Amino acid sequence: MSTLGNPANVFWHQCAVGKADREKLLNQQGCVVWITGLSGSGKSTLACSLGRELHSRGKLSYVLDGDNVRHGLNKNLGFSPDDRTENIRRVGEVAKLFADAGLICIASLISPYRNDRDACRAMLPDAFVEVFMNMPLEVCEGRDPKGLYKLARAGKIKGFTGIDDPYEAPLKCEIELQQKGGACPTPNEMAGQVASYLEGRGFLQTL
Ligand code: ADX
Repeated sequence: MSTLGNPANVFWHQCAVGKADREKLLNQQGCVVWITGLSGSGKSTLACSLGRELHSRGKLSYVLDGDNVRHGLNKNLGFSPDDRTENIRRVGEVAKLFADAGLICIASLISPYRNDRDACRAMLPDAFVEVFMNMPLEVCEGRDPKGLYKLARAGKIKGFTGIDDPYEAPLKCEIELQQKGGACPTPNEMAGQVASYLEGRGFLQTL
């Protein structure tokens, strides 16, 4: 029987320098900040602000942005439910590697399906921080930074999240960001809130 296509005969190779060594070098603990929400909810803006905030605190982070990753690693994937699941699975695996490298990995994707996000959480149960950008659809659609909601409403894009494809809000997440009195918190405020949370959990220092 052919063993081509058989993923069984592979073995984990351990290196002498481990995660804890790298974390000591960086004085932080590897983790994943997973930002989920509708298109236009401000995920990428928060991801970049958080990256800047962490950088200014001397912490090493890296942003995996849905749109950007779809230009390379995931450029063979579309927006069918199966493709989205595979998109999230791959980014979850890459995020896990970044966390193992000792980095604070900021993943910013719509990730509309709860099961897919929960599968990523299950890869790193103690180091997965889910941030829900809970912005109303009307606000996201009003912003429409890429003009995609307009196309979706006109039926020119099918299966657009929030229009004719579902977004399953988290049932239990570490951080939920939303409007207060009709106003969105600024990117700096949101980044500060997430950074404080990471600090409180001890991720910004080594064990
Ligand atoms: S996810 O659903 O698989 O998590 P991802 O975050 O990678 O999505 O990519 C979302 C981006 O792709 C959106 O910001 C938007 O610019 C673009 N996009 C194109 N088609 C769609 C669609 N059908 N639904 C949602 N976003 C889309």
